[in-house]
Amino acid sequence: MAFILFDGASPRAYPRAMTDLDTFIVGLPKAELHLHIEGSLEPELMFALARRNGVAIPYGSVDEVRRAYAFGNLQDFLDIYYAGAAVLRTAADFQDLATAYFDRAAADGVVHAEIMFDPQTHTARGVPIGEVVDGLLAGMTVAEARHGLTSGLILSFLRHLSEGEAFATLAEAEPWLDRIVAVGLDSSELGHPPEKFARVFAAAAAKGLRCVAHAGEEGPPAYVWEALDLLHVDRLDHGNRALEDDALVDRLRDSAMTLTVCPLSNVKLCVVPEIAAHPIDRMLELGLKVTINSDDPAYFGGYVADNYRAVAGGRGLDKAQLATLARNSFTGSFLLAEAVAAHLARLDSFVAAN
Ligand code: ADE
Ligand code: ZN
Repeated sequence: MAFILFDGASPRAYPRAMTDLDTFIVGLPKAELHLHIEGSLEPELMFALARRNGVAIPYGSVDEVRRAYAFGNLQDFLDIYYAGAAVLRTAADFQDLATAYFDRAAADGVVHAEIMFDPQTHTARGVPIGEVVDGLLAGMTVAEARHGLTSGLILSFLRHLSEGEAFATLAEAEPWLDRIVAVGLDSSELGHPPEKFARVFAAAAAKGLRCVAHAGEEGPPAYVWEALDLLHVDRLDHGNRALEDDALVDRLRDSAMTLTVCPLSNVKLCVVPEIAAHPIDRMLELGLKVTINSDDPAYFGGYVADNYRAVAGGRGLDKAQLATLARNSFTGSFLLAEAVAAHLARLDSFVAAN
């Protein structure tokens, strides 16, 4: 039985005056499809786990941690994110981490989440993959019992490591593959094109796993083409730079490819200069099937509803556009068709009443 350190909403979920649009955003049933569970590690939990596990961290206070979260690019962030993950050691730690995320997500109207985890970040430190997966699965069970929030696990390969290491990770995960919905590809994009992982993605697909990959966050449109043509992804994480290539936009639109866009992440990692310059409305106008997600909410200043609020405020999205984004989150999920239909019916009645 895990010792639950944090229960309920994150310390930053303080009460605030709700506007009509806020109420609509929070109440809108939605799925989150792009979330790194290690990126939901709030500084308070980081300190608690560091104490519990006797792990030293290079910060004196929660405020000092938050002050360190100023990034000039993806790599700046990844260096801090991997260092923070060092406090995670046992299945109980991973369960606490997942429970804290799901409680917070449920408060934002998330009814289904497909969450990524990076096994190599942990196995490289000697943490057995079973501690990671069993802890996350336990947190997922609690979320369903507590909130009715369903979820799926996405095993993400670190692209700065080798193809051989990705194959070894897939082999280590074999006993849990029936509890994992997809493989993903994350970490440092530039210099690590999707092509490097074509064979391991083919092996994962042959085992019945779905495929997603980060592409076009910092990487060029060519990386998005490779994710489509060489990794045969079922869903694309980010995809912002696809907008630089008209033929690629046509391909994404015509194939109804789901893009998991992360607005606050894009600002924090300097993919866009400010939220007012985010291309989310342009993506919608181009007919792209875009969704809104939080990526690494503990590091980027907001959970999923904060990301909906940011694009509503920064780009003037109206209720109909916000509802389209939520609708896309269900049709772009890996849920069975009947579950998608049930979520869409609830979403439609919420929109009709609000
Ligand atoms: N790992 C965690 N967050 C990521 C991001 N935004 N891009 C690539 N890898 C990541
Ligand atoms: Zn990501």
